[in-house]
Amino acid sequence: PFVVTDSCIQCKYTDCVSVCPMDCFVEGPNFLAIDPDGCIDCSMCVPECPVGAIYNATDLPAAMAHFEDLNARLAKHPGWKPITQAKAPMPNHEKWKDVADKLPMLQL
Ligand code: SF4
Ligand code: F3S
Repeated sequence: PFVVTDSCIQCKYTDCVSVCPMDCFVEGPNFLAIDPDGCIDCSMCVPECPVGAIYNATDLPAAMAHFEDLNARLAKHPGWKPITQAKAPMPNHEKWKDVADKLPMLQL
């Protein structure tokens, strides 16, 4: 499956969700995840993300390997809901989009 990674945190541009033919994005307070059970590896979401947050799990850089399991777990989180329509990014996305290692800020 494809995987959402660190760059998405605190930004949530949501351009990715409108192209997914399987509607497999789920939304939390400051991050999106891909449900691996729905993803068909079409890769259409990858070029949509303005911050390059989406990777094929098979191409994940080693430093981001933990995001594969995280996406799978968050996709089943009871508070996280499917999102299929793009919306405005988070208010401070400009400030956060170039910041690395935002995982400690992830909200559930
Ligand atoms: Fe959806 Fe395709 Fe992206 Fe998987 S790779 S999340 S099916 S757009
Ligand atoms: Fe996140 Fe990029 Fe989608 S920032 S919400 S993965 S377009």
